[in-house]
Amino acid sequence: MNFNNILTDFQDGITTITINRPKKLNALNQETINELHQAFKDADLDEDSKVIIITGSGEKAFVAGADISEFADYSMEEGEYLAANGQKVLFDFVENLSTPVIAAVNGFALGGGLELAMACHFRVASDNARMGLPEVSLGVIPGYGGTQRLTQLVGKGRAMEMIMTAGMIDANKALSNGLVNHVTSQDELLSLCEKIAGKIRQNSSVAIAAAIKAVNANYQEGVNGFEVEIKEFGKSFGTEDFAEGTSAFLEKRKADFPGR
Ligand code: COA
Repeated sequence: MNFNNILTDFQDGITTITINRPKKLNALNQETINELHQAFKDADLDEDSKVIIITGSGEKAFVAGADISEFADYSMEEGEYLAANGQKVLFDFVENLSTPVIAAVNGFALGGGLELAMACHFRVASDNARMGLPEVSLGVIPGYGGTQRLTQLVGKGRAMEMIMTAGMIDANKALSNGLVNHVTSQDELLSLCEKIAGKIRQNSSVAIAAAIKAVNANYQEGVNGFEVEIKEFGKSFGTEDFAEGTSAFLEKRKADFPGR
């Protein structure tokens, strides 16, 4: 499929999606959001695609936010729809994908850009990355899940400060706050993500999908995560991957998971 605003690449079981609007610092306009939805969906449906990496093109930005020029004259109703639709088609969609998604944060991750990185299953940053939720400096609040996911990741006090000051933190601060898992040079960012993806790829994609579901259940209203874990644990015993994984261990050989 041809996209106007994103590039996709597939190699060794890893799909890399690159947001490609460098002149606009990869800001998320509606078309880009819709294309990202499609690209994530395609990669998730492809049984050979075991891990997804998302990054931004150019050396300056991962994503500098939602495209401000698109919503500057919106009404209250349009604003609410923008947030609801965006959360549904991209941010919640990515968080609940069965395929693991790693954000390779290669520069500015602001507003919707940080919200996209936070919707991914985990984040790796280059040492030039700067992250923040600057929405209140525009008279609006984060609308793509930022108030919820930043709080989950860094805790309420730190999230409140970042949101209220509209300030940016650097990659090392993000590392110490638990917002990103690793920091490396920009040159090595993708290879580090690919190395981590390589480790993930060796494991059962069926079990990983179940683990994502169980971890996410902790954050769902009215859902008991421990019960989801028990159900998913039980279901694992009926999978071909479990039969292969346990046999391989007992036979002292490397597992060759049939997968989905
Ligand atoms: N929406 C729309 N366009 C954006 C954008 C956004 N969120 N972020 C950057 N751009 C555009 C700029 O308008 C500029 O376009 P132009 O060349 O046509 O004028 C281009 O990207 C380059 O940005 P510029 O501001 O010139 O780069 P800079 O290096 O001086 O500053 C930032 C970088 C990230 C500090 C600055 O672009 C910025 O503050 N962006 C907005 C961040 C934000 O508030 N995001 C939250 C949105 S809810």
